[in-house]
Amino acid sequence: MAGIAIRKGVRVIITGASSGIGAALAQQCGAAQATVALIARRKDRLEAVAAGVEAAGGQAYPIVADVSQPEQITPALQQLLEQWGGVEVLINNAGRGNCALVEETTPEQLERIFGVNVFALWYTTAVVLPVMKQQGRGVIVNVASVAGKWGYPINSAYVAAKHACVGFTAALRTELLDTSITAFAVCPAAVDTEWPSVTEGCAIGDIFLDGVRRSKQIAEERGLPLAPLSPVFSAEEVARQIMAAITEPPTNDLFTHPGTAEMAVLAAQDRSALEQQMLPFYLGVLEAYREHRQQQSQQ
Ligand SMILES: NC(=O)c1ccc[n+]([C@@H]2O[C@H](COP(=O)([O-])OP(=O)(O)OC[C@H]3O[C@@H](n4cnc5c(N)ncnc54)[C@H](OP(=O)(O)O)[C@@H]3O)[C@@H](O)[C@H]2O)c1
Repeated sequence: MAGIAIRKGVRVIITGASSGIGAALAQQCGAAQATVALIARRKDRLEAVAAGVEAAGGQAYPIVADVSQPEQITPALQQLLEQWGGVEVLINNAGRGNCALVEETTPEQLERIFGVNVFALWYTTAVVLPVMKQQGRGVIVNVASVAGKWGYPINSAYVAAKHACVGFTAALRTELLDTSITAFAVCPAAVDTEWPSVTEGCAIGDIFLDGVRRSKQIAEERGLPLAPLSPVFSAEEVARQIMAAITEPPTNDLFTHPGTAEMAVLAAQDRSALEQQMLPFYLGVLEAYREHRQQQSQQ
């Protein structure tokens, strides 16, 4: 698997660069003196990240665009590549979650969650890939989640979308066999970013935290071990792992948190066994969500 060391002269496109993992990646690319296109919708936040990239020694190209809208992202990327004359790395990182039971998830919510987490992968990759093929090198990174490997309650649209992101990457890789272009998916567990507080429907982070608290009592009552939950990592730590993987690509999806690769194997081999391990947490989350909805309906 051919990797690319990020350094001066290397051109990197990062979607979802206005905060969290994307902003941390941009900053680390800047520190490596790379040339970085930063894509997101919030102009002020993008400009702040761009200033950080430049201050660190990189070159920043902030681009305001909604990646789920092909009429915005396609011409923006075409124009960028015309200006740059090539690109070495594409990081599809933009993403958003949701917070709703399956039966509460609206068609509009599905459309938006799949728009940013899934459809955007085609829009960006379709512009970048022909250029990488012509160059004979390139790395494409798709930021999925452990939610792309197993399920969580109250965010089925996101879980399904991240499974699609992993599936897209698997298919893309088959088209890149016999080329020097590499693609891999990244599957982080919890990362300390804005993500859990900006999920559509309600802030899933609060419900999950409440679910963790409740899971301890549920485990005790049922005589079960605590659910195996990963530590929360910083965006900088996850970005560092992604940067290292771009230089030396993994042969499979990249798991950033300890124990999660093993859980993905278990989910693939015996979903019921994984569900049993996670049971106190899943039940705790559902209980927390029911209470949250009840409180909402009383207001
Ligand atoms: N945080 C976690 O626990 C966690 C765990 C596993 C995987 N992930 C994944 O990691 C990736 C990065 O998320 P994060 O944790 O860094 O969260 P974050 O801080 O909320 O960052 C999400 C980024 O995506 C951008 N974005 C959202 N919708 C967009 C759209 N339609 N068009 C363009 N940009 C859009 C946001 O910018 P604008 O709002 O300015 O457009 C923001 O820059 C996501 O794919 C997320 O699903 C996160």
